[in-house]
Amino acid sequence: MRKPIIAGNWKLNKTIDESISLVEDIKVKTMDLNREQMPTVVVCPVFTALKSVANILEHGKGIDLGAQDCYHVDSGAYTGEVSVPMLKDICVSYIIVGHSERRQYFGETDETVNQKAKAILSHGLIPIICCGESLEQREAGKTDEIVKTQVKADLKGLSNEEIAKSVIAYEPIWAIGTGKTCDSPEANRVIKLIRDTVAEVSTREAADKMRILYGGSVKASTIEEQMSMSDIDGALVGGASLEADSFVGIIKGTMLARTGK
Ligand code: 13P
Repeated sequence: MRKPIIAGNWKLNKTIDESISLVEDIKVKTMDLNREQMPTVVVCPVFTALKSVANILEHGKGIDLGAQDCYHVDSGAYTGEVSVPMLKDICVSYIIVGHSERRQYFGETDETVNQKAKAILSHGLIPIICCGESLEQREAGKTDEIVKTQVKADLKGLSNEEIAKSVIAYEPIWAIGTGKTCDSPEANRVIKLIRDTVAEVSTREAADKMRILYGGSVKASTIEEQMSMSDIDGALVGGASLEADSFVGIIKGTMLARTGK
């Protein structure tokens, strides 16, 4: 059985002090939860807050640290970039790549996503690879084609083992920050399609091991139904990850859906 992941993408929000206080609050509010049943929880603050947040997380014991992006080269003349070994150095274990906001505003392409995924895996970290269609593409009936093309290009050249370890987040762009979630059966259908596409480019075994998340206006009130779907293995959460109560509500809802308790 795949262990669910609940990852908070804080995007461009929170100072160092605010980040510390949020993560401390999350720690306190998850303290009594059964560790065996708890999903893998990841928080992804801005680069400048990573080290301070790392200092208060007990690495590997409840909450993991994620970054929102990276560069694919380890070091050199690349002004402004941050590399995978540098992130590993401060205990980052997950890195989001190919978020639609990076594709839309910062020129990220499937080719750069693929380069970054390779670099992340080569250093033993885990990429959270984002894909998803725009409203225009959905309305034109192109969702399946867009998502399949992205997944194939993003995973190109990865070994079956690397694919099994990787995480994909299906984030329909029209559902991000809009309060409009993709309904659960439809999100599950696209995620199943992603899993079948992964099986096509690797093996069924790798595809069945891979965790595929849903992202887009996830809230504590939506997660139970989402987590009851066969192929949704967790969530990449934006807005609702910025407050401890709503984020912990999502963690608890995930546990409830999985254990029925
Ligand atoms: P929201 O949860 O705010 O819709 O954001 C989703 C997202 O983009 C997570 O990466």
